[in-house]
Amino acid sequence: MNESHSCFEEGKLKIVSRVQGGVAFRNGELCFPKNFYFGVATASYQIEGAWNVSGKSESIWDRYTHEHPERIFDHKNGDVAADSYHRFREDVKLMADLGVKYYRFSISWPRVLPTGLANEINEDGIRYYRELINELNRNKLMALVTMYHWDLPQSLQDLGGWTNPIMADYFVDYARVLIKSFEDMRVDWITFNEPLSFCQAGYGGMDAPGANASGFEDYLCGHNVLRAHGMAYRMYKREFPHLNGAMGITIDMGWQEPATTSPEDQEAAETARQFYFGWFANPIFSKTGDYPAVMRKRVDEASRQQRYPRSRLPTFTAEEVEYMQGSADFLGLNHYTTYLISPKKGKISPQPSFVEDAGIYSTQKEDWPKTNSTWLRVVPWGFRKALNWIKRTYENPIVLITENGVSTPPGLHDRRRTAYILSYLRALHAAIALDGCRVVGYTYWSLIDNFEWTRGFSERFGLYEVDYSSPNKTRTARESVKFFSHIAKTGCLPTLNWVAQFQN
Ligand code: NOJ
Repeated sequence: MNESHSCFEEGKLKIVSRVQGGVAFRNGELCFPKNFYFGVATASYQIEGAWNVSGKSESIWDRYTHEHPERIFDHKNGDVAADSYHRFREDVKLMADLGVKYYRFSISWPRVLPTGLANEINEDGIRYYRELINELNRNKLMALVTMYHWDLPQSLQDLGGWTNPIMADYFVDYARVLIKSFEDMRVDWITFNEPLSFCQAGYGGMDAPGANASGFEDYLCGHNVLRAHGMAYRMYKREFPHLNGAMGITIDMGWQEPATTSPEDQEAAETARQFYFGWFANPIFSKTGDYPAVMRKRVDEASRQQRYPRSRLPTFTAEEVEYMQGSADFLGLNHYTTYLISPKKGKISPQPSFVEDAGIYSTQKEDWPKTNSTWLRVVPWGFRKALNWIKRTYENPIVLITENGVSTPPGLHDRRRTAYILSYLRALHAAIALDGCRVVGYTYWSLIDNFEWTRGFSERFGLYEVDYSSPNKTRTARESVKFFSHIAKTGCLPTLNWVAQFQN
């Protein structure tokens, strides 16, 4: 009965303002609205390999994994990875077989701009991505392109990376080169992937570049990334109105559930949502165009008590607020799991730290099913709650699920992946059909196994397994491929009987 919200039209993201809820059954299966599309995602450093080929320069992840193999779980790196740089045609074929409508991939900044700046464009890098997009379009797949999925040119890190305010200008230059280079092709854009992760883990922790300066550099990073996003969005709309394309940002949100129903736990959980998600969502999707009030208050107060003459959380100018507010056609959401939150007791620590500023303590329930990633437990109801919170907090924005997925042990029998996807998609369906959340598409992470950052190749998220020891980096379909492909092709969730047919 329902229908009506569509995601892509004529090969580009179409943003609609009117969405109707309702439940649709076809042949006994629960179906998503017509034009709700399914896709798959990857990222350049995690799959491309070819780290120093045809003019590509060094990224922070190249430098980090080469200098500090001991910081990577299996001491490996992305030098070759799944070699998608040479095997992208094979990957496009896998997607065409799957029946998905779009591919979310990212562009490697140092492959396109070896100096990091727009003074020198590496034509071979551009050629590679043009061929990839052409191949996608030939196979009736659309391109949803992330400009930044963590592989910063090392040359820019040498200037301080995202802690340096000039990065916002450099990012806009890079974004302009990309948009121009693919102007004649059908592309929609995501500026940044998971700023929380790369600012908090990269500048506040031990992911590349490993700055480990929480409570300082993570805030500087976040500030400049938000400015960069807002400036790039305005540039896109001002300089390329004829393209009529969509641009958004991908923010990650694990659901933060109060550990108990006590008012203290509820307040702590809301503070956690504002620190972990509102940090990036509020300046763009709220009416204030600024950091969440609770974040401002807590970091200002902690900084004062620590005797800093100014807050460790920077302040936006009125001009910055204006260009950031509303600077997205859709909210890209990465969601995987849920946490239980309670307040952290005791005095403010003298040592600056993001987690201390938030003042929360986070756990997971022992009886939530485990996966192959320590942080990822299966809690599908958290997905529905997260979507409803976003709906309430930001006036029901258009949301595109840009990542959801699970890791399984090596091998092709992955019933846990099937179960995970089914349970999360049921939760998503309820959020759309019963709660009226405006979600326009679902992207599974990931098409193929890939380099899982500091976890190396030990965690496998792929629908297709990659045999890293084979010369061809052979891709083989896992059992869940049949299941996900049914969903991608029909838009409906198969019945359990249907699923049971092909599970050993
Ligand atoms: C988030 C990141 O965007 C992606 O790079 C990572 O591999 C997945 N989640 C799984 O952890």
